[in-house]
Amino acid sequence: MSLKNLKIKAEKEVKQARNLKELDNIYKKYLGKKGEITQTLRSLKNLPEKERKKRGKLANQVKQEIEKDVEKERKKLQSSIRQPADKFQKERVDVTVPGKKLSLGNLHPITLVKRKVEEIFLNLGFSIVEGPEIENEWYNFDALNILADHPARDLWDTLWLKTKTQKLLLRTHTSPVQIHYMEKHNPPLRIIIPGRVFRHEATDASHDIQFYQVEGLMVDKEVSVANFKAIIQEFFKQFFKKSIEIRLRPSFFPFTEPSFEVDMSCLNCGGKGCSACSQTGWLEIMGAGMVHPHIYKSSGLNPKMWQGFAFGIGLDRLAMMKYKINDIRLFYSGDLRFLKQF
Ligand code: DAH
Repeated sequence: MSLKNLKIKAEKEVKQARNLKELDNIYKKYLGKKGEITQTLRSLKNLPEKERKKRGKLANQVKQEIEKDVEKERKKLQSSIRQPADKFQKERVDVTVPGKKLSLGNLHPITLVKRKVEEIFLNLGFSIVEGPEIENEWYNFDALNILADHPARDLWDTLWLKTKTQKLLLRTHTSPVQIHYMEKHNPPLRIIIPGRVFRHEATDASHDIQFYQVEGLMVDKEVSVANFKAIIQEFFKQFFKKSIEIRLRPSFFPFTEPSFEVDMSCLNCGGKGCSACSQTGWLEIMGAGMVHPHIYKSSGLNPKMWQGFAFGIGLDRLAMMKYKINDIRLFYSGDLRFLKQF
């Protein structure tokens, strides 16, 4: 093999050496006692002088270059042996350093209040039931004795959906779920129905086009207003963590008879009268009443067999009272400065 080709071959092998041992072997192969270059150098003595000088010079040059290459490669391999140690040093983890706190989100105040209400009623023997947000006129109105052309329908400003066949709407209250539930379940029953409702209303600090209600329904053979009062009083006591007075005022709802408006003693002044309760000592908190016979009929039940009470509370209003919030629109504004406080 020519010296030139020998050099090319050697250079290639040197570059491919995977470790110091392999490199040593390559060195020996070319430059060791019996190495190919060494032998070439040795054989020079048999050549005529002119030829000897020429080849001798070239062979020495190749020898030096290979030595240089091997040396360079040796340094490279040595530093890569040292490298893992450096790498470990860099990757070292100090397990005693205090951890970085993960930033957690928090629950929406309406969710917090909804869960609290559910917890209290579950403990009072009620089940939690849900229903559809899109209803037809029957469930939202007729079945609840809110008949077409009756002025009572105007109490619920309705958002109608643009549909071709059936007339559909966004439920204006959670009361339709009373019908859905009693169509499928026979009394005795105790349920609460938390859910979102929608009204076509101008918004202000106490009105929004969407808000949350909790409907309540208890039906059995003998259920009276006294049962209602006891349960609601217990609910408020647990919810506001203090003993609260309630009073019932006669009112009108098409789906209850008799109907009443429920007031609770003002949280702020305890009934003495302050600006929060317009000096009356009372805050209006919910609508309620004894279930109207029409409701049982709509659900396929015999009104003569059953008695019950129903109520509807605004969850937003409960949350506003609990957390002293003065504008309902804050709940739906998505403002993190507000939401992060809960
Ligand atoms: N559905 C009524 C509303 O949205 C609230 C209500 C009042 C519900 C009296 C009831 C009830 O179940 O008995 O204004």
